Amino acid sequence: MCGIVAYIGPRQAQDVIIKGLKRLEYRGYDSTGIALMNGGLNVYKKKGKVSELEKSLNGFDLNSHIGMGHTRWATHGEPNDENAHPHYSATKKLAIIHNGIIENYSSLKEDLERKGHTFQSETDTEVFIHFIEDIYENEKCSLDEAVRLALTKVIGAYAIVVMSLDNSELLIAARKGSPLVVGVGKGEYFMASDATPIIEYTNEVIYLNDYEMAIINKGELTIKNTENLPLTPYIQTVDMELEAIEKGGFDHYMLKEIFEQPRSIKDCMRGRLDSASGRLILGGLREYVNTLVNADRILIVACGTSWHAGLVAEYFFEEYCRIPVEVEYASEFRYRNPVIREGDVIIAISQSGETADTLAAIEMAKSKGAIIFGVCNVVGSSIPRATHAGAYTHAGPEIGVASTKAFTAQLIVLNMIALIVAQQKGTIPQQKFLELLIEMENIPEKVEIVLKHNDKIRDIAAKFIDTNNFLYLGRGYNFPVALEGALKLKEISYIHAEGYPAAEMKHGPIALIDEAMPVVFIATKDSSYEKIVSNIQEVKARKGKVISIITEGDTLIPTMSDHVIEVPKTIESLMPLVSVIPLQLLSYHIAVMRDCNVDQPRNLAKSVTVE
Ligand code: F6R
Repeated sequence: MCGIVAYIGPRQAQDVIIKGLKRLEYRGYDSTGIALMNGGLNVYKKKGKVSELEKSLNGFDLNSHIGMGHTRWATHGEPNDENAHPHYSATKKLAIIHNGIIENYSSLKEDLERKGHTFQSETDTEVFIHFIEDIYENEKCSLDEAVRLALTKVIGAYAIVVMSLDNSELLIAARKGSPLVVGVGKGEYFMASDATPIIEYTNEVIYLNDYEMAIINKGELTIKNTENLPLTPYIQTVDMELEAIEKGGFDHYMLKEIFEQPRSIKDCMRGRLDSASGRLILGGLREYVNTLVNADRILIVACGTSWHAGLVAEYFFEEYCRIPVEVEYASEFRYRNPVIREGDVIIAISQSGETADTLAAIEMAKSKGAIIFGVCNVVGSSIPRATHAGAYTHAGPEIGVASTKAFTAQLIVLNMIALIVAQQKGTIPQQKFLELLIEMENIPEKVEIVLKHNDKIRDIAAKFIDTNNFLYLGRGYNFPVALEGALKLKEISYIHAEGYPAAEMKHGPIALIDEAMPVVFIATKDSSYEKIVSNIQEVKARKGKVISIITEGDTLIPTMSDHVIEVPKTIESLMPLVSVIPLQLLSYHIAVMRDCNVDQPRNLAKSVTVE
């Protein structure tokens, strides 16, 4: 939430920053701003997207070789020009951009107001920069020392960059709880919330850890922690192609990412799974695999779509490994004082690797002695660094706010973990293990087949664009898919949608069924097929509109559905990988036809770094 980017070097800073902000817009997009050193420390900011800011900059001489920018997801104060970042200090000699929340800002603000400070915005961030300046003036220390001292007194989360009018060769950055990456180029430096604004210029990066500061002064980079201990910069090479973060001819990132799934699923299995030799290896788990094999219970913590992947994983672990599983919303788990016993293992799932609630749940479980595995997509993000072991999903950057390819890659990784554990535990027959490996290798092709129905799905979508409510029903492995289908629809089209286990319908939701209620059944041929056929009849009897996701060749369900979308047959436990694809496309097309911004839906952000 909130994207920050900064630059110092020979290029025109505003070019690098505006481009970088566009890449980070998935993190927040209610207002935008930039600070440059163009004949003074000047701040330009605007409510709305980066394109609005860009338009408003026309006609200004923006020549500057240092600068910083911010795209905001509002926490304190409504989205408007005043609350947009950067924020000035009292004397306007300092400016700051900030991602995170300063929890003790009101007490700091009261103190500063007593000293005569006045504020232009309602933000915690403006208080933060006034506070830094207050220390700077009182302590008569260097600016980086004033920033450091301020950091030791603020409570909350931050990734910040500070600029000073007095030194046009100085950028000071720090992080705690919100991500910050420093890009190291030849004679130039970049700072950003993630590597996407940087990789166009350099693939050498430093991922700052919590309580670390990066100071770039007169071409020199210094890293230290907030206890003032100097640290040796650990420069890593990021393996990300520019093309992976561009739309590549698609109208939206979401559509591109849906269509990328045959490839992202393959990438996720590459080098890990080989059915011909029966080989299945997850390097990151090797050291801890016995911990999982001997686990008495697995607790899965996640949010949103990742939580849905966790629900599917519950079925994997129970079916293959016979290990009891509980799937927890990280936000509830962290505040519940849950019982964590010796023998419990936690699996944390997160696309971004930055979700604040998931991170806090991990820290809490760690403090109770639990072993934590991470399943994350963004390499180098906070969650993989906070866990004992884990496996990346390798789906590539996911930029559309609605998660699609990350979900299918999470399912693949979780399935692989469960299979490895089951094999070692001896709870899965070798024949079944091999069948699953073979079928996993077939999944990319099967997803490709579903994607071929895109036009048909668009035609179905066109019939439902004025609908106010949707129900999604599934059983067994397809129940979490129903939840995921409903989430996709509501988040990008703003149509109210609910996912339910199909059999639960008669305990309440059936009261909603009438001719205006579309019901999406995920009704593939599996062990609960007959049961779901009955559920479809119950809906039809009440005149509901039925859209069914069916297995190719099914001749029964089409006779009782208004619309059907076929998916290829696969093993029951792998069906979510295939059956979710039409639901992603259905929600995408409905949202586009309703003129919604599918990549940047209102009120949402890709990386939820606030609780
Ligand atoms: C839905 C969506 C969100 C995320 C949730 C968790 O499409 O994207 O529900 O799944 O915010 O995010 P991660 O996986 O980054 O922890």
